[in-house]
Amino acid sequence: MNFNLSEEHLAVQEAARDFARNELLPGIIERDNEARFPAEQVKRMAELGFLGMMVPPEYGGGGMDTVSYVLAMEELSKIDASASVIMSVNNSLVCYGLEAFGTEAQKQKYLTRLAAGETIGAFCLSEPEAGSDATSQATTAEDKGDYYLVNGTKNWITNGNSSGICLVIAQTDREKKHRGINCLIIEKGTPGFVVGKKEDKMGIRASDTHSLLFTDVKVPKENRIGEDGFGFKFAMSTLNGGRIGIAAQALGIAAGAYELSLKYSQERKAFGKQIFDHQAIQFKLAEMATKIEAARLLVYKAARLKDEHKDYVRAAAMAKLFASDVAMWATTEAVQIHGGYGYVKEFHVERLMRDAKITQIYEGTSEIQKLVIARELIR
Ligand code: CAA
Repeated sequence: MNFNLSEEHLAVQEAARDFARNELLPGIIERDNEARFPAEQVKRMAELGFLGMMVPPEYGGGGMDTVSYVLAMEELSKIDASASVIMSVNNSLVCYGLEAFGTEAQKQKYLTRLAAGETIGAFCLSEPEAGSDATSQATTAEDKGDYYLVNGTKNWITNGNSSGICLVIAQTDREKKHRGINCLIIEKGTPGFVVGKKEDKMGIRASDTHSLLFTDVKVPKENRIGEDGFGFKFAMSTLNGGRIGIAAQALGIAAGAYELSLKYSQERKAFGKQIFDHQAIQFKLAEMATKIEAARLLVYKAARLKDEHKDYVRAAAMAKLFASDVAMWATTEAVQIHGGYGYVKEFHVERLMRDAKITQIYEGTSEIQKLVIARELIR
């Protein structure tokens, strides 16, 4: 297996690193404190092409591979996981979903706008009573001939308020169970579609997470993605790729915490020497570096498999499971290395620790990843 990154990959990595340091870092503590959406920064992400990285150029995207995407995700996540989840949902759930399964008309109408960053997208699967148990959709999309009538509530929707285009999963025929579920493209401003409560979150506080309410929302049939009943398969297939993005986010959070800790360990003195010279700290850093490298290899492997059009379901789930656990563990160690300073905001590691937690929960909890992996083992 070739682990070398191409010149193009290295250029993307450097561009993402520069953007994160120069444009995401300033004001990050305030945005986190105030749970303020990074509107200006997202605009810049659009200008720099981070919002439609893998979208083919004919639809206005960057036409890049998944490896480039995970490299960019890692760099942004080292600093700002709120910004990177906005990017992740737009790229690997919404843009990818439309590109892989949308009609030409849907791509022209919606994908072009999303790739250009004219608006951002939201992926609406979770409900108050359906998180991990995603087949239990209570939101309905009643077939009314040439349109669907949508009713229900979606919960914990990333980009909930800021998005203009939403991919909404809903049940059309309950008797057919998950094979009676559809995915509909619903634009903000459609009558009956209202943005609900904003969540006050532990981490990724600057990303806007909302409930979305649908009351008798009329959606034309042409806005359905795929054949009738394809919605659940659509959600699962799209999430397989999404999980690579979140794995890269977790990797970036862990690597960001490690880099800060390595630097701090060479600045802070205790007992007459740099704390790096104490074996207790060296062992922590050595273990962090090793686990982060292992997570990185899993993430790159999953991305490469996707780029080579090979089966990546198991690899993506393994990457997310492992990288998110590494993120939670490494950020906790980072706080410990920083001691009292680690527990206050200006040293950044406490935010990374809070941000890390969600990577074990969204786009499939760690328990769901284990389920996916186990099923793949005997497939
Ligand atoms: N890839 C492709 N297809 C899949 C799949 C996968 N990973 N997992 C299941 N499927 C297909 C199955 O093949 C089956 O299709 P057929 O009937 O045609 O054969 C169908 O989906 C139903 O599968 P199961 O019978 O296995 O259904 P289940 O209820 O036993 O389990 C599950 C399904 C794996 C638990 C699934 O519900 C799941 O992944 N849950 C987690 C949901 C999730 O990840 N939510 C994240 C929310 S989105 C989010 O977080 C975005 C954000 O804002 C950041």
